[in-house]
Amino acid sequence: MEVDGVTRLPRHVAIVMDGNGRWAKQRNLPRHAGHKAGVKSVRTSVEQSVKHGIEVLTLFAFSSENWKRPQKEVSLLMDLFMVALQREVKRLKRNNVQLRIIGDRTAFSEKLQQRMATAEADTADNDGLVLQIAANYGGRWDIVQAVRHLAGKVESGTLSADQISEAMISDELSFSDLPDPDLFIRTGGEQRISNFMLWQSAYTELYFTDAYWPDFDAAAYDTALAYFSSRQRRFGMTGEQVQVNNHPESID
Ligand code: IPE
Ligand code: IPE
Ligand code: MG
Repeated sequence: MEVDGVTRLPRHVAIVMDGNGRWAKQRNLPRHAGHKAGVKSVRTSVEQSVKHGIEVLTLFAFSSENWKRPQKEVSLLMDLFMVALQREVKRLKRNNVQLRIIGDRTAFSEKLQQRMATAEADTADNDGLVLQIAANYGGRWDIVQAVRHLAGKVESGTLSADQISEAMISDELSFSDLPDPDLFIRTGGEQRISNFMLWQSAYTELYFTDAYWPDFDAAAYDTALAYFSSRQRRFGMTGEQVQVNNHPESID
């Protein structure tokens, strides 16, 4: 992962874990078997992120649009969240991983919301990798909740409309305390964002692989990191400027 003798790693990796259903279909298994098999890849990507010293890993587990799936699949996915949240906490603790859930969790059952809160509380003191699970998350939802909050301040007279800045909007979005994603990975062959982090990925490097999520192993993850390392991030500048500036890693 070296370019010109310099190893450049992303601070924040965001992954759209896609292709579980097709992985299962390929094996004549029900779609749910693919979701279950995907848990192993979650573990691997967490372990690899810890190993490489990446600061933040965000995994897209359930989009705000995934409620449109057959009710049976949705309910099996919820069961899987419940089990995984409980089972994985020990491992996260061992790896010093802090778990955070992003998205509108009010749509989940009381029990699941409680388990999410417990898992977060149990890992809150860990200061290694921050693992964000995006559940009932949508990039548009994120922007809407930020706008609502700012509009409330305008309504109450504590903010005037012309004071609204990019930084102010950023501050109202989910994970505003963390860096924007540097590397976006999507497995499963589709080349689209599917309403993931819209605002935050303005300058994210995009990497797509045909591998289905359950097949995404440590070597596949390292290939994505190597791709990132080979990119020249220009943030609107010229290539020459960026070289002089010694490869700026982020715009903030
Ligand atoms: C991604 O895999 C997992 C979720 C969206 C929950 P899919 O279930 O979308 O798998 P494909 O795209 O149908 O293969
Ligand atoms: C994106 O995958 C959401 C998650 C991986 C959670 P989808 O399978 O839902 O995306 P589309 O529908 O193919 O765009
Ligand atoms: Mg899919």
